[in-house]
Amino acid sequence: MTSRPLVHIIAGSVRAQRLCPRIAAWVAKVGAARVPLALEVVELSDWPLPMDDEAGIPALGVYGSERTRAWSEKIAQADGFVFVTPQYNWGYPAALKNARDHLHREWRGKPAAIVSYGGHGGGKCAAQLNQVAQGLKMRVAPTMPGLELSDEAIRDAALDPARDFTAHVAAVEQAFDELAALLADQPAPAAAPV
Ligand SMILES: Cc1cc2nc3c(=O)[nH]c(=O)nc-3n(C[C@H](O)[C@H](O)[C@H](O)COP(=O)(O)O)c2cc1C
Repeated sequence: MTSRPLVHIIAGSVRAQRLCPRIAAWVAKVGAARVPLALEVVELSDWPLPMDDEAGIPALGVYGSERTRAWSEKIAQADGFVFVTPQYNWGYPAALKNARDHLHREWRGKPAAIVSYGGHGGGKCAAQLNQVAQGLKMRVAPTMPGLELSDEAIRDAALDPARDFTAHVAAVEQAFDELAALLADQPAPAAAPV
């Protein structure tokens, strides 16, 4: 039996009272019921990466910090990704950009899906994330679910994804279907540019 492709579900926010763990867990649950992929939630809060700890160019793959080397190993293991991220001020969180920018080859050419959330679903954040993914030649699933948070969820962190996101299940399933199709058509890893 061949092993299932490994997909990291990257939880994109790190603030103490964040909703992201609940939402990422729900996305993982919907995905696990839908596609034969090995899904693992990766909390960026478990991977603190100072913004100034790498002197060099990540595309060269030579990392000075032990933290970056560990992060590199972690991301290199994955065959694909689902980015689950809130919209912050019409963009995506700095912690997620920083985690992306610490590496290069480890992301490059791999399939990815983007699930955003916010008061209106976080579409602007998804668009930015997609643009960055295109820069890394990632193959992005065309369906990008935008999970809408109620005022109550934003104000009081009152959210039960299984109850509140029923309208979004089909889009998340579709994104997983597309991700699985992209993974089945995996090309040889692309060479990193210099
Ligand atoms: C710094 C910050 C900026 C935000 N900007 C937006 C925004 O542009 N659009 C939006 O719909 N919600 C915005 N919100 C509300 C978030 O959608 C909501 O707080 C959500 O729970 C954030 O995700 P998190 O709990 O995982 O951090 C913002 C929240 C924070 C903390």
